[in-house]
Amino acid sequence: MLKVLCDMDPGHDDALALLVALKVVEVVGVTTVAGNQTLRKTTVNARRVLRAAEREDIRVAPGRGQPLFYPLVTAGEIHGESGLDGYSFPVLPELIPMIGANELLECTFSKALEPIDWIATGPLSNVAAFLLGHPHLFESIGTLSIMGGSLGRGNITDSAEFNIFVDPDAADIVMHSGLNIRMAGLDVTHKALLTPDAHARFRELADPIGEMLFALFSFYGSREVNAGRQGAPIHDVLAVAALVEPDLFNWQKTPLIVHRQGECRGATRRGQDGPYISVAVDIDVQSFFEWFWQALDQYR
Ligand code: RIB
Ligand code: CA
Repeated sequence: MLKVLCDMDPGHDDALALLVALKVVEVVGVTTVAGNQTLRKTTVNARRVLRAAEREDIRVAPGRGQPLFYPLVTAGEIHGESGLDGYSFPVLPELIPMIGANELLECTFSKALEPIDWIATGPLSNVAAFLLGHPHLFESIGTLSIMGGSLGRGNITDSAEFNIFVDPDAADIVMHSGLNIRMAGLDVTHKALLTPDAHARFRELADPIGEMLFALFSFYGSREVNAGRQGAPIHDVLAVAALVEPDLFNWQKTPLIVHRQGECRGATRRGQDGPYISVAVDIDVQSFFEWFWQALDQYR
C-alpha cells in the first residue's frame, strides 16, 4: 500500500477524502492548512474525522494559518462556521501536544526509505513553504496529487478555483517545483457529483461514520452553491483517486500558468514553458464511484 501524507483544510469534501484515503493508502500523517476555515478549525476537524474513524494513531500537525502573502479567504458560506457544520461531533479530548506541519513533513520525508506520496486538498501554502525550505528532500517526495485549479471556469471567481485563489503564490511555486504533480481540478470534480441516492447510501455505513457523513452532506448539499446541481461536488476525493487510480482519468501533460494577481487571480491555464504537470481533463464517472464505494463500504 502506498505511504501517503495528506495536507488538508477540512472542509466536508476533505473529510470524505480522508475517510476514503484511510481505506486505500497508508496515511502516515495529516497536516492542516487554513482554507475552508481558519487553521484552528481545520485542525480540530481533522482530529474529529480521525477520531470518528478510530484512527487517532495518525498524527495531525497544523501548518500555515495564512497564505504566503495574501490575507486569508475562508469558505464559511459553504462549509459553515466550524468548517464541518451539519453534525454534532463528540467533544475531543483536551488538546494533545502537537508538532507543526514542517516538523512532521521533515521528519517523515527525511526518514523515508523510499519516496512518499503527497495528497494536497487545500490551499498549497504548507506545500510551498515546505518545498522552499527543504530542497534537499525533493528526492523523498513521490507523486504530489492536488485538488485544485481548472483549465476552464472557476468556482470562487469566474476564472479561479478556491484552493488556488486563496494562495496563488504558493500554487505557482508548487507548479514550478519540478515535482511529479497530478492536478485534479474543476474540469473533473464538477463531473463526479454526489447524487441524492449516493448521499442516502451513506446511511448504510456503520455509525458513527454513516450518521456523520449523512448529516455532513445534508448540510453541504443544501448550500446555495450546490443548489440546482445534479448533486454535490466531492472535489477532494478525486485527488485521492488521481493518486491511486490514475486510469480513471484522462490526462494532459502541460506547463501551467498560475495567475498570481489581478482580476484573474488564481486562474490556472496551459502554459508554453516550464515543468510539465499532469492535468486531469476527463473522468470515468461510473468507474470512479465503483472505486469510491468499494473504499467506503469498508466502513460497513
Ligand atoms: O474548490 C474546491 C476546493 O476548495 C476543495 O478542496 C474544497 O474543500 C475547498 O478547499
Ligand atoms: Ca479542501
